[in-house]
Amino acid sequence: MASTCVVGLQWGDEAKGKIVDLLCDQHDAVVRYQGGANAGHTVVANGVTYKLSLIPTGVLRPDTEGVIGNGVVIHPPALLKEIETLSSQGVEMGDRLHVSNRAHVILPYHMAEERLTEESASKADHLGTTRRGIGPCYRDKVGRVHGVRVGDLFHPERFREHLSRIIPYKNRLLTAMLNDYVPLDVDAVAEEYLGYAERLRPYVRDTTTWLHDAVGQGKRLLFEGAQGSLLDIDHGSYPYVTSSNSSAAGIAAGSGIPTRHIQRWIGVLKAYTTRVGGGPFPTELENEIGERIRTVGREFGTVTGRPRRCGWFDAVAARYSTQVSGSTEVALMLLDVLSGLPELQVAVRYEDENGRKIETLPAHLADFERCRPVYETLPGWSEDLTKARSWSDLPQAARDYVNFLAEQIGVPVSIVSVGPERTQTIVRDDVVRSLLK
Ligand code: IMP
Repeated sequence: MASTCVVGLQWGDEAKGKIVDLLCDQHDAVVRYQGGANAGHTVVANGVTYKLSLIPTGVLRPDTEGVIGNGVVIHPPALLKEIETLSSQGVEMGDRLHVSNRAHVILPYHMAEERLTEESASKADHLGTTRRGIGPCYRDKVGRVHGVRVGDLFHPERFREHLSRIIPYKNRLLTAMLNDYVPLDVDAVAEEYLGYAERLRPYVRDTTTWLHDAVGQGKRLLFEGAQGSLLDIDHGSYPYVTSSNSSAAGIAAGSGIPTRHIQRWIGVLKAYTTRVGGGPFPTELENEIGERIRTVGREFGTVTGRPRRCGWFDAVAARYSTQVSGSTEVALMLLDVLSGLPELQVAVRYEDENGRKIETLPAHLADFERCRPVYETLPGWSEDLTKARSWSDLPQAARDYVNFLAEQIGVPVSIVSVGPERTQTIVRDDVVRSLLK
């Protein structure tokens, strides 16, 4: 039982990659269990910036293995490109990457299908997705008739036959609904994807069996969530969510490993809140404070480059996602970004337009849209935190802020991050020890 999960507790981009990277040397393999190339992890190590999307962050360490589990949706050219880019930066996959033959495959018509809704005349249909074909691919997965799995690419005749039923159907639909759609050719798509399959062949296997063997051998696994718990298809701010279980709820389904093997449950939170894409965001700051957080925190999407919406810390949302993801400790990220703000606000509850108290995240969009944050104001600090290396290096006001958030969420903050480098991290060993007793 020495496995760990690291999941985001907000709307993604909580800097989970840095925490995963830090914990890698205590684990043997890092496992992705949901999402696809909509995720973006930026890890800075020894002055080099690595951008990962599908490949688990763990592979940056030469001895750590990376697993892309069955719950992930894979766009083969995106995966191959990532393997090549890492190789050009000196990170070789060798036999350390394991890709599930049960994972579903993103095909070109998925991108076109996503354009249908994202560019439709009805603004209400726009979710502000990353346009990586994620939603349409998951839709085909659960619809079963048109799903294509990685394993299908290794049965060429059946794959061609399957595509010869799928593509004419999609062509008819998309030609009727998208003005600029160029119908796809079955043979061309089949050849393209069979070509990708050959290049991916060394990595593809039954990762469920591989993971169970690893557990049997006493290997320590690190489950790396993509996106954040508030974007979970079931538990997030539906319909402004992603199409997978991006909270810790997705681990068992997306990897085949029961969660009883997990001992450490780390939730990752920013010291403020951000969101990309549409959907309610009660603590959003559409003013110069939000602008300042965006600039200082470099809050622009890793995948799409979109400016992220920025706001105060939302303790109502964080409390809820901590419960859903079962986090027993929190890594608090980007605390340094708040330096210099005279006062900090934290939403401790919501209320509706009639002043009625709302203590938890409403399930329905209409109710969530009506929520107004009720803030507690805390003093800020002016000191630069980026050189702090221990809890006592932090100014009192910063420690008070962290303690206030922990009290609000109901679990301790065990890690505080004050910059992107591995060294810019305060690990509170006393807190970790008391949790693991
Ligand atoms: P999709 O995952 O591309 O379908 O997008 C659905 C929603 O999730 C949109 O609001 C995206 O901006 C958001 N989203 C998807 N991936 C990420 C991520 O890695 N970080 C933050 N938001 C994300």
